[in-house]
Amino acid sequence: MALVSLSEMLADAKKHGYAVGAFNTNNMEIVQAIVAAAEEMEAPVILQASQGAIKYAGLEYIVAMVKAAASQVSVPVAMHLDHGTSFEQVVGCIRSGFSSVMYDGSKHPFDINVANTQEVVRVAHAVGVTVEGELGKIGGTEDDIHVDEAAAMMTVPEEAVEFVRDSGVDALAIAIGTAHGPYKGEPCLDFDRLEKIGKMVEIPLVLHGASGVPDDAITRCIKLGISKINIDTDLRQSFTAAIRDVLAERPGEIDPRKYIGAGRERLKEVVKTKISLFGTAGKVR
Ligand code: G3H
Ligand code: 13P
Ligand code: ZN
Repeated sequence: MALVSLSEMLADAKKHGYAVGAFNTNNMEIVQAIVAAAEEMEAPVILQASQGAIKYAGLEYIVAMVKAAASQVSVPVAMHLDHGTSFEQVVGCIRSGFSSVMYDGSKHPFDINVANTQEVVRVAHAVGVTVEGELGKIGGTEDDIHVDEAAAMMTVPEEAVEFVRDSGVDALAIAIGTAHGPYKGEPCLDFDRLEKIGKMVEIPLVLHGASGVPDDAITRCIKLGISKINIDTDLRQSFTAAIRDVLAERPGEIDPRKYIGAGRERLKEVVKTKISLFGTAGKVR
C-alpha cells in the first residue's frame, strides 16, 4: 500500500478506543521488523524518524526504505517526522514523501509555538500531510527533573484548547509526566490532567516517552484519550540486547546478517506486544 497520513488512522483509533503505535526507526532492519509485525497483527502502524535518524540514515534512504516496506504489505503505514524543530526540516520531509510530520515548537513561548505550528499546518495541509504539534515540554529521563519543575512543564488543558484551535493541528502531543529514554523508577503520570485534556480537546492526543510505562498505565491513557503512542527506547533496548546475546554466545561471529538479523527478530516481537497492548491488532479497516 502507498503511505497514508494520520487522519483516518487516528480518527478510527479515537472512535473505537485504541491507539496506533508510532515506532522510531533508523535503519532497514528496524523498518522491516516494524512493518512485518504490523502485517502479522493486521494493524495500522506509524513509522517515525527523528532528525537524528534522518541525519544517520539519510532522508532519501529512510523514505525509500519505508515506502518499499509499505508497498509489500496490506496494512496502512504512515511515515511521520518525529520532533521536527524547524520549518525547513518539515518542508524537506514533506517534499521527500513523508505522509505526516510533527512540528515540535515546545521550547518556544506559547504564541511563537502557535505561529510556527500554524505555518507548518498551512504548508502540510496543502499537500494532504497531517501535522502533530506539541504543547508542554516532554523532557528526557536523564534530565533529573524535580517534581515542581515536572508540573511546570506539563500541558495546561485550557492552553491546549487554544493551541489546537489556533494552530489547526491534527494531533497533539501532551506532557503529563512521561519522558524520553529509560526511566530510573516508575514514571508518575498525571491522569487527572490527561482526563481533563481528553474531555476538552477534540483531536487525537499523543503520548511520547511511552517506553517503560507500565501496561496498566498505558491502558488507562488510551481510555482517557490517547490515540497515538510513541515508542523508541524499548525498541533500542531489545535490538541491542539480541545483538549482545549473539556476540556473547559466538564472539567469533563476523556476519552482520547473523547478529543484526537477531536484533530484527527480537524487535519485531516487541512491536507485536505493543500492538497487542494498544488494542490495534485486527484494526485494519
Ligand atoms: O523523541 C526522541 C526519540 O527517541 C528519538 O531519539 O533523537 O536520538 O533519534 P533520537
Ligand atoms: P521513548 O524512547 O521513551 O519510547 O520515547 C519515544 C518518543 O517519544 C519519540 O518521540
Ligand atoms: Zn517524543
